[in-house]
Amino acid sequence: MQIADRLKNLKPSATMELDAQAKAMVAAGEAVINLTAGEPDFSPPESILLATCQAALTGKTKYTQAKGQASLLQKVADFFNLQLDYGSSAKNVMVTSGGKVACFWPLFATINPGDEVIILTPYWTSYPAMVELCGGVPVFFDYKKLSAKDSNQYLLEKLITDKTKAIILNSPNNPAGYVFSPQDLAILEEIFTDKNIWLISDEIYANLVYGSNRHVSIASLNDQLKEKTVIINGASKAFAMTGYRIGFIWGNQWIIGKMAQIQSQVIGCPCSISQVAAEAALKKAKLEVEEMRKSYEHRLNTIIRPFFKQSGKKYFQPEGAFYVFFKLAEGTDCTIFCQDLLKKEKLALVPGQAFGYPGWVRLSYAASEQQLSEGLQRLKNFWIK
Ligand SMILES: Cc1ncc(COP(=O)(O)O)c(C=O)c1O
Repeated sequence: MQIADRLKNLKPSATMELDAQAKAMVAAGEAVINLTAGEPDFSPPESILLATCQAALTGKTKYTQAKGQASLLQKVADFFNLQLDYGSSAKNVMVTSGGKVACFWPLFATINPGDEVIILTPYWTSYPAMVELCGGVPVFFDYKKLSAKDSNQYLLEKLITDKTKAIILNSPNNPAGYVFSPQDLAILEEIFTDKNIWLISDEIYANLVYGSNRHVSIASLNDQLKEKTVIINGASKAFAMTGYRIGFIWGNQWIIGKMAQIQSQVIGCPCSISQVAAEAALKKAKLEVEEMRKSYEHRLNTIIRPFFKQSGKKYFQPEGAFYVFFKLAEGTDCTIFCQDLLKKEKLALVPGQAFGYPGWVRLSYAASEQQLSEGLQRLKNFWIK
């Protein structure tokens, strides 16, 4: 018996595996500090929890329309309009079972076998696997070289071939925490406006931006980009609703229609109870979302930034999301580093290898201030020894 060729490189999600390993150690009684997971440490706001219970008790337990129930779609369209003035209607959006599927559907809808998809490194760990599952070929480009040119042409533009079907963008970024600057956006606009290439823009951390940084979607720059951008968002990060599995997708009506057809054949519809909860989130949880954002920002400013500034290590400036991504001493194997750190100091972090950036490590600050302080102390002890 044989499995499909497209599975030949498939591995489980590295971040989920490490999180599971750290949780198993905690369950076995080990005092592990787990800073691997990209999961808010908050519970969802109470209005969401109440809506969840009411949905179950009042029989919102049936199938819904494949792309999500109409009242939620309207709220999702408003959510995108509020943030970035897209002027979208419910026809421009769909709801799916989590941000992961929200990233997968546009790839599945657009990639033919052999098509190339550009992915900026460091990348969120699942993008290359998703591209390969669609029969596509990931082509990597270092975000740090975005403004680099050769013979007056951007290096990124030189990567484009007649097989390039899409580029995946992710700002605010996981794992690096950067937010596209106006200069970054201007470069992307210059390169992609007149190209026949889809822009799959994962903006799941759009509500988690700090200091003077602002989230601006590539789709808002001009009408041509708007037409070929598919935006990913969802309830997991901003609303602390990871287990509800709700993702939002925005795009032109044609591509949304195609993805809704795929969804109707593959998953039927997103969970009906989670949809009611997501609608409550969009209607009632604005203040709590801002409270959570402020709390991450406080941790960043009072614990994370001072520590890394003092450490003398190289790191990406954390501007959004809830990660800090730092560089190890030259020649250090990041996987061995993380294994030793877990064994000796009981601190779990994710090696940069999982994000296509060997030699670097990701720490999630979606954890209590006490856990973060203790975790950083352990990291310091490990470096000193
Ligand atoms: C950049 C990015 N996109 C998408 C997702 C998937 O989100 P969800 O948990 O809703 O599937 C994550 C989750 O970690 C993420 O970090």
